[in-house]
Amino acid sequence: MIAASSPLHSQAQTASHGTETSLILTGTLTAFFVLLTFFIVIVLGGDVEPLTKFFRRVYNAVSPQSGGEAIPIEENHDGITELDNRVPPWFNYLFGGTILFAVVYMLDYHVWRSSPLPQAEYAQELAAADISRRVRVAAEGSINEEALEPLTDEASIAAGHERFSRNCVTCHGANAGGIVGPNLTDRYWISGGGIKDVYATIKNGVPQKGMISWKLVFTPKEIQQIASFILTLQGTNPANGKKPEGTLFQEPAPQKDSGKAVK
Ligand code: HEC
Repeated sequence: MIAASSPLHSQAQTASHGTETSLILTGTLTAFFVLLTFFIVIVLGGDVEPLTKFFRRVYNAVSPQSGGEAIPIEENHDGITELDNRVPPWFNYLFGGTILFAVVYMLDYHVWRSSPLPQAEYAQELAAADISRRVRVAAEGSINEEALEPLTDEASIAAGHERFSRNCVTCHGANAGGIVGPNLTDRYWISGGGIKDVYATIKNGVPQKGMISWKLVFTPKEIQQIASFILTLQGTNPANGKKPEGTLFQEPAPQKDSGKAVK
């Protein structure tokens, strides 16, 4: 589950609901203070006394015994007295505020359903990530997985490196020396070390071992870039790299032509 949610963090495509809400909140607060300043300067002529009086009256209104003395309710437990102090107004406001918040929250999320619940929000983010991936696929065209070759141009390797840094280092380490996942810089591979093998491992994952499938996150081209980048790390032998796992990978001998002599 942890792994399954990580691709989303790498995709910051959607202007999230939270950003909008905080923008509205900031805007409202700013407008409030600007209006308040205007009111004080223009209507009150800079004299804040009436305003503070007003607020003091509102503030004290919720306290039924405002101004009263603390009343002892039980005298003397071995010299310790218990006082029936009035509840401070700030506490009453806070308490009232939580009730108001709950009402607004319930109306918003459960009655009018104007804000999405976490599951719906998650589904929205997934859908947005999927659309963004489809757009990227459409833009770059498909690749031939049967005749896959490692990319060698600098831009592709850099793009692969960037995606690797953002999505894979938590398990494979910054230098791909391996943490939870295996060392990707040695010649030993669990699932094969050719470009097609590495491509297939990234695309399909090894879910039962904790390596998720990335095919819903990356486009084929992007997976090719990442796989190509990984293969450039062969033999880099990073410090603290994990011991080799799997078997020594040998590039299969290049396929010969059908071998039949042409008559
Ligand atoms: C949650 C941890 C985790 C993340 C994140 C992760 N991997 Fe893995 N990865 C693993 C594990 C565990 C294995 C070993 C699977 C096995 O035992 O077959 C593995 C195996 C691999 C292998 C095959 C290694 C071999 O020896 O055959 C490759 C290639 C690979 N990961 C690439 C990536 C890439 C690229 C990313 C990022 C896009 C990534 N991994 C992200 C955990 C992770």
